[in-house]
Parts: sequence; C-alpha cells; structure tokens
Amino acid sequence: MITLIAPGIWKLTLGTPEALTPSGLADTTPEHVHLAALPLVDACPLQPAAITATSTPRGFQVRLPLQSTEQLYGLGLQLLSFNQTGLKKTLRVNSDPIADLGDSHAPVPFYVSTAGYGILVDTTRYATFYCGSANPVAAAGGHDPCGGLPPDAPVLDTDTLYAARKAAAYREVVVEVPGAAGVSLFIFAGPSLLEAVQRYNLFSGGGVVPPRWALGVWYRGRSDFTQEQTLAFAQQFRDERMPCDVFGLEPGWQTQTYSCSHVWSSRFPDPAALVADLRERHFRVNLWTHVFTHPTSPIFQDLLPHSGPYTTFGGLVPDFLQPEAREIFTNHYKKTTVDIGVSGFKLDECDGSDFIKSPWSFPEFGVFPSGADGEQMHSLFGTLQQRMMRQLYERNGKRTFGLVRNAHAFAAPLPFVLYSDLYDHGQFVRGVCTAGFSGLLWTPEIRHAGSGMELVRRLQSAIASPMFLVNAWYIKNPPWKQWETKANNADQLLPDWPEWQTKCRAVFDLRMQLVPYLHAAFHRYATEGIPPFRALVMDYPDCPDAHRLDDQIMIGDRLMAAPIIGTALTRTLWLPPGMWVDFWTGVRHEGNRHLDLPQVHENLPLFVKDGSVLPLARPSLHTEAAESFELDVRVYGNGALPITLLEEASPDAPFAADHVNLLTLSWDISRLVVAPVRYRADLSRGYTVAHERKI
Ligand code: GAL
Repeated sequence: MITLIAPGIWKLTLGTPEALTPSGLADTTPEHVHLAALPLVDACPLQPAAITATSTPRGFQVRLPLQSTEQLYGLGLQLLSFNQTGLKKTLRVNSDPIADLGDSHAPVPFYVSTAGYGILVDTTRYATFYCGSANPVAAAGGHDPCGGLPPDAPVLDTDTLYAARKAAAYREVVVEVPGAAGVSLFIFAGPSLLEAVQRYNLFSGGGVVPPRWALGVWYRGRSDFTQEQTLAFAQQFRDERMPCDVFGLEPGWQTQTYSCSHVWSSRFPDPAALVADLRERHFRVNLWTHVFTHPTSPIFQDLLPHSGPYTTFGGLVPDFLQPEAREIFTNHYKKTTVDIGVSGFKLDECDGSDFIKSPWSFPEFGVFPSGADGEQMHSLFGTLQQRMMRQLYERNGKRTFGLVRNAHAFAAPLPFVLYSDLYDHGQFVRGVCTAGFSGLLWTPEIRHAGSGMELVRRLQSAIASPMFLVNAWYIKNPPWKQWETKANNADQLLPDWPEWQTKCRAVFDLRMQLVPYLHAAFHRYATEGIPPFRALVMDYPDCPDAHRLDDQIMIGDRLMAAPIIGTALTRTLWLPPGMWVDFWTGVRHEGNRHLDLPQVHENLPLFVKDGSVLPLARPSLHTEAAESFELDVRVYGNGALPITLLEEASPDAPFAADHVNLLTLSWDISRLVVAPVRYRADLSRGYTVAHERKI
C-alpha cells in the first residue's frame, strides 16, 4: 500500500513490518510548512509497481529499480567509501570497521540517488543493501554482462578487472532485512538529489541549529585533569590568546571496570564552582560520559529492572525505550550536572566494537524489558540517549550541544555531532561528506600529529566541519606545543612551539570569523533541510567530476573548501561550474575544471562563489566577545548573492524558530544594505557592519 504522507514523500508498506521502527519512535514532527515550500512533485519518483518484495527464510527482501547511470550515496556515516554504487553494505553498528562492509558508528538505512530521490528503509535491523551489486541471471538476457568492454580486454589488476566486469547494464537495489516479515519504505522525491536530502531532513523535523558557542573552538583536556589543572589549563587559553568556547572534561566517574558510577570523582571537589568559574571566563563545559552503570552507582538499584540481560564493562545497559530508565537517568543528571550549568555531554561508547583485540558491548540476542533485542537496541542506542539528553535540557529551559558515537535515522534535529577513535585524515574528511547525506553531523577531531604541518592541515580540515574540536584526552599539553604523544606527556615541549601556536591560532581565527556565516548555514538546515557541510555532488549531481569527490566540501551555499590531506605539497581540486574566487588571494578562476595549487599552501584552500556577500566576524577569543558580532563584509564581484544572518536573544535558551531576528546583507550597486527581514527577539547584542570591502 502506498500513501502520500507529506508533500513529495510517500510511504510504501510491504508485508507486515516489525513493531519497533525508527519512524514509530521519532519524537519530532515533520516540518510540513517548509516541506510545502519545496518544488511540488506530483508523482512518486519510483513507480510503486517496479518495487517488489518477498518473504524468504532469511527475512524480508525488497528490490528497487536502478538505472544504469544512477549514482547512490548515503547509508549513514561511511568512512571507507563515498559513492555506494556497486557496493554491498550491511548496516551494523560498530566503531572500528576493518573493511568497507557497512560497519559504522552511525549506519542509516537511507540512500539518495543522482536520479533525484531518496529511500529510507524503516528498520532497526542490520539490513544489507546491494547497491546494484546483485545481478540476476534472468535480467542478463540481451545485455552485455561486460558492460561493453571486449571480453579479452587486457586488464592487469583485480580492482579494475572486477569493476569492469561487474558493470552490468541491468542493475537493481536489493535490500535484505533479516528476520522481518515486512518493512515500510519512505520515498523522498527530489527533483534533485539535494532536494531529496532536504525532504528527508525536514521530514525528520528539520536540522538542528547549534547555539553560537558550539560553532567556536572546542578543546578537551587530558582525561585525568583535576579541578585545579582544568582551570589553570583553560586560563592558559585566555592568557595565550587562543580562542576557545567549550572545554571538555572527564568527570572521572568511570570505575575500575570502566563502567560508570555517574558520580564526580574526588579530583573535582567542587564541580559547581568549577563550572561557574569557567563560565565566568566564557567557557561552556561539556562532560564525557557513557551510560553503562556500575553496581556502586547510586542509580544502579533503580535501573536494574529497566536494563538489558547482559552487562557491558561490568555495568548495566539501561533500556532507554522504557520511560522509567530515562527518568532515573535524567533526574540524576539534572541534579548533578545540568543544574550546575554543564552545557552538554559527550555520549561515549554507545556503538560497540567487534573488531578490536578486546571486543565489547552487549550481544545482539539479549532481549530488553521493552521487548527490543540487542540488534535493535544497538541501532537505537545512541539515538535514544541523544533524545533523552535533549529533552532533559529542553525541560529545564536550556539548550545543549554535544558529541555522540552512534546515531541512526531521523537524526537531523538532534544536537549532537559524531566522532571516532579512528584517526585517518582522509577518512575523517570523507566522513563530513558521507554524514551529510543522512542528516548526520561529524567532526574530524584533532588529537596528536606526525608533524607540525600535519597538525595544521588537520585543523584546517576541521574548519570545514560542524565541530572544530581538539580532543587532547591523552595528551597533557596542547598539540601545538608538542604534537608527538610521548614527548608531550613528558612535558618535552618543542623549542619553536610559539611559532606553531601562531600558525594554529590563524586556523582558529578563521573558524571564529566564520561563526556568523556558519550559524546562518545551520539556520537553513533547520528551515530548508540543506546540510551546512556537504559533498559537492549534492549541489552538482549532473557533473560526473563530482560523483566520486570525497575530499572537497561545500560550506553553506557560497564557500567551497578543499582540505589538504596529510603533508602533500600540491593539491589538485575541482572547481564547480561558475566563477570562483580564491578566499586568500582574491584571484578569480573559471569553474567546471580542475585546478592545480602548485606549492605548499599555508592556508586551507578555500573558494568563494563570485557574486557572494560574505560576512566575517572579527577574530575573537570566544563567541560572546563584542568582536564576534562586528562584521567585515566582503562583496565579491557584482554582489548579486545576498546573505541572511541569524540573531538569537539567548544562545542558551532552546532554539525557537519564531523568536529570532533575520538580517539580510545585500549589495545595491555601490553600497551595502543591511535590512532586517523580521525583528522578533530582544537582543543584548546583534551584528553590526564594521567594515566592507569589494573584491
Ligand atoms: C574514548 C573516546 C575518546 C575519549 C576516551 C576517554 O572511548 O572515544 O574520545 O573520550 O574514551 O576515556
């Protein structure tokens, strides 16, 4: 049965779906008004009759058409591949994938196509997606299975050999949902790939708008810092003029077995005073936690009846599908953290790992009191925690923003960014691109580095991401004073660290300059569903050059970054159609071609769409500083692309879409015009234009 459920969105139910589904659990309502503003699409982009389904002894199988030219993307955060066409992925939650098989911190059963539609398979099962990689014999009749290559073409490596031979003319997507007797599909119309993503995000409730402070610099100190060390360390940022808005702490509530007591350790004799002290210095505090609860925890006994049958790290695994478990947790966290001013959490270990020397987490077969089994719980675990924490803050009239290591479907409205213990620079940049297809945010966090150049380039990459985070949890001094872990912890600082600090500060400053622009881009995530950071194929699906481009990122609608991975001395990048201006030199380049950057680039390669009005804040130490509201406005070329900025009354109150100011900056032949689109919020501080420059 197929039903139109929102403008351009259809639901197709096949067989008898399971009771527990991502859509059934979603706690936000679709953004119907904004959905209605997207182009009207009358017909479902896939003919329902062309979608077939069968019950098999293995579970439930769905087959969907796939044209020979279509390219597929998505399936959540995928660090090991970008374009999913021709691949087979099993969407298992796992933190340390060893091969490109679909294991991920955040697998999402949603894919989008360059043909301009998206498909969500509404399941919490570890479904397998054959993205054009299963070629039925029946369909081969009349087709050349070699995809046009002469059968004796001399191909001498297996990758090319298999790639060519598998390029069959007939393709389809096959999805296997294990153990199920049916499943619903949500079909999101385009007409373009980007619009399909927009519809998915708006249907999820619209993208999150982080508070301004969350767009500044995040730093996590070493995990064993005491209250005193934390304060002294944070003060060092101010003294040495390094920008920082959020300081990450480990409250030390992990026990010997690593499960948590959720009680501040003796390293923090007065947490309330610490948080207040930091707040006075304009830092927000983000706390590390994971939910596996140790027997010594004050909430253990209450949680026991609302937990799964297996432990993790010797701790209880709360069943967050049960309201009781959520209440026990949030009551405790409210008193001990939220009420003293902690701004949010890093929800660690909610994924699990099967691939490391000491695999950990709860098994797939254990059944929780709510009836969910371990497999379903794994898919939902991070999502349930994110929703619980968001509600905890909302109920207390506050806003939060934090980190998480697992997410699933309908994640766009959730105020959390994904991260990982993995550390491959290229994969980390690819993660920004792949996350953007499925309503996810991802940070390519920075820890140690092999050289100063690598450190700077990793920082530059983080500019083009939702969270600019230095996660120094295992190093004592900031990495710019010593990027090598052992020497850092032995306090052997680099003799020339001040020079490296200056270089790193320049990168921090750029991030701070971009805060108003990024905030505006996130506002469009909320109201239009447009991911603020995304792969170029979303904007340029008809350009084959963009189809495999996983190391260039659109930031908002007018900036394109091409991070340099590792310590390469040159960079070849692709400029999309149109005219692009080098952010640093002001040199104009005709697009739709490749561009070689010939020598070592000190700065992040960054290009501005010609015609842009681009507001940059003055660099500041934190987002509450007056400079952060003073704009240097650059007007490129004819200035035909105005920009609308967002002003909020309070960065700590829950975001209220109808209680913000929108301010449009446009270029009127020879002068900049600043026009309020609407004024609703009483501001203690709003944007002012300090300077304008024509480029
Ligand atoms: C890891 C986490 C790291 C760090 C560490 C601290 O699981 O991914 O980022 O927080 O725990 O104990």
